[in-house]
Amino acid sequence: MQPYTKRTWTEINLDCLEHNYHQIKALLPQTDIIATVKADGYGHCAEPVARHLQELGVHFFSVSNIDEATALRDDQIQGDILILGYTPVEQAEELVKYNIIQTVFSPEFAQELNLAAQKAGITVRVHVALDTGMSRIGFQATQSCWEIGEIERLYHYPHLKIEGYFTHLCHADSTEEGPRNFTLHQKQLFDQMIQQLQQKGYHTGVSHIQNSAGIQMLQGNHYDLARPGIVLYGLHPSGQVTIPGLKPVLQLKSVISMVKEIEANVTVGYSRTFTTKKATKIATVCIGYADGWPRLLSNRGYVLVNGQKVPIIGNVCMDQLMLDVTGIPAKQGDIVTLIGKDGNLEITADQVAESIGTIGYELVCQISKRVPRAIYQNGKLIEVIEY
Ligand SMILES: Cc1ncc(COP(=O)(O)O)c(C=O)c1O
Repeated sequence: MQPYTKRTWTEINLDCLEHNYHQIKALLPQTDIIATVKADGYGHCAEPVARHLQELGVHFFSVSNIDEATALRDDQIQGDILILGYTPVEQAEELVKYNIIQTVFSPEFAQELNLAAQKAGITVRVHVALDTGMSRIGFQATQSCWEIGEIERLYHYPHLKIEGYFTHLCHADSTEEGPRNFTLHQKQLFDQMIQQLQQKGYHTGVSHIQNSAGIQMLQGNHYDLARPGIVLYGLHPSGQVTIPGLKPVLQLKSVISMVKEIEANVTVGYSRTFTTKKATKIATVCIGYADGWPRLLSNRGYVLVNGQKVPIIGNVCMDQLMLDVTGIPAKQGDIVTLIGKDGNLEITADQVAESIGTIGYELVCQISKRVPRAIYQNGKLIEVIEY
């Protein structure tokens, strides 16, 4: 037994990551990839993921904040790193020290960042975020509000070096007509802003708008870069928008701590939400909501034990859950697969997420830091990350 398998763990397969990267690149032959490795690589452990992608030729990464960015640098990631979100301007010097690109997304933030950089005697590399319909961060580039004047002002800030522009698609994960048109409209607004700026003689640098769903929905549109996240990890933006042939990178496993037989008419777990109808064999498993396994799966979810699908019964506890393993071989120490393959069966994060009305993104991101990540490459364990 490996020490990390004593309770609950994930297995991260870098060969699957590599496979997914090649699948995505095949759709984007002329476009470089910004690998989105924020939120610890969507729970997959950003550093080994980024390192492997770097070996495959990726030289641009995006993260959510400065701590994620500096962690990558500390781990020898040498390419460009773009922070997609907010950084307090007091950290301008750190941005430059670590050679990180900051997103500028509002007139106020840009002005303050330029001032902070001026005081420090530095120049910060930036990409400009345009809000074409997400209504999150970004300079307004919508039909009702066209902030080109505010964007032009950025070019008069000597301590900001504009290297690119991007926008974020908010409904590219649907193939229905309304969302499709909205995505095309977002693209049009983005293109229009870039065109106008260029016509006025401004250097706009590189452009990127495609997240995973956008790669599929806007095929044949060649921007300089694309920013896939979820598809690198082998999951899909939605049930409607998928990239065929992807392989899930992460498996989530746990072990059975105890098996017992109980009579009919006995309740199981907190609040006694499950009552046995007949004599039942129960297996208790070492995973709960503190590990990131949603409590919403109480009396709803399924897992795999010895190649068979078995139901979760009763409420998921903080550190444990119970299964009905009546009629199947199950004993203390047996492995339970919550996400991944066992024999001929597979449960994907997307399936689990859908069963409780959420998305695969959330499920993998919320696997908690008490769960070790065992990193595999070429079929071999190469590293175990314990947080
Ligand atoms: C600005 C931005 N770009 C790219 C991505 C990657 O999106 P996806 O994982 O859907 O490819 C995200 C994810 O949330 C994002 O916020």
